[in-house]
Amino acid sequence: MNSFDIINPESFKNYSLKPVIFGVSGSPRRDGNSNTLLSSFISGAAESLINSNTVHLIDYQYQSCLGCENCRRDKICTGLKDGMSLLYPKILESKGLVLVSPTHNYNITAWMKAFIDRLYCFYNFDFNNRSIWSSQFAGQGRKAVIAAVCEQNDKDDMGFTMEAMRRPLQALGYDVVGELPVYGVFGRGRVKKQDEVLNRAIELGKELAESLIK
Ligand SMILES: Cc1cc2nc3c(=O)[nH]c(=O)nc-3n(C[C@H](O)[C@H](O)[C@H](O)COP(=O)(O)O)c2cc1C
Repeated sequence: MNSFDIINPESFKNYSLKPVIFGVSGSPRRDGNSNTLLSSFISGAAESLINSNTVHLIDYQYQSCLGCENCRRDKICTGLKDGMSLLYPKILESKGLVLVSPTHNYNITAWMKAFIDRLYCFYNFDFNNRSIWSSQFAGQGRKAVIAAVCEQNDKDDMGFTMEAMRRPLQALGYDVVGELPVYGVFGRGRVKKQDEVLNRAIELGKELAESLIK
């Protein structure tokens, strides 16, 4: 595991939002279907001349949120020293976000769940009344596209996967401008054979990119 310093909240105040896309795959499989889909989204965005950064969460060592609530004060996660230190700058400066997760037990993967939970630091909660809250990202024009891939063909077997990404992103202030649930794909990288799906991902990547420069 890499060693990281505790985040200095001051150093995170200077990131300015850019019309770039941060693409995140939550699959533990290298060359898996999620990574293929992510590449298609990003190549669509590139057609509109929008730059992107992509990460595969499996390449980063980070923990799930500890619930220490330091972030209420610091507005960034200062309770853990881990690989999220490398991901926070990319989130802060990217107006566009693409999340892709395979379905694992009707839900997003543990990697994607931990990643989303670590975005908790971007909420503001009223100190006296926690039912009053907002997001630091609200009103910034942030846009997202989400995608999921599962083995079964029945919509029920994808379970909560899409919702588990959509709802937290909306709460954080992202406008989810496109969604792509992909059914019936099991083998590693098999989605490469599904031209229609890949073309839809390219189209959505392009739409996301165009929505960022409107
Ligand atoms: C632990 C685990 C749980 C899974 N749970 C489901 C499930 O609930 N429903 C489903 O349709 N497919 C399920 N799958 C199959 C994957 O979603 C499918 O193989 C997908 O294509 C994997 O995407 P990837 O290559 O991006 O990892 C599961 C696979 C694993 C390894």
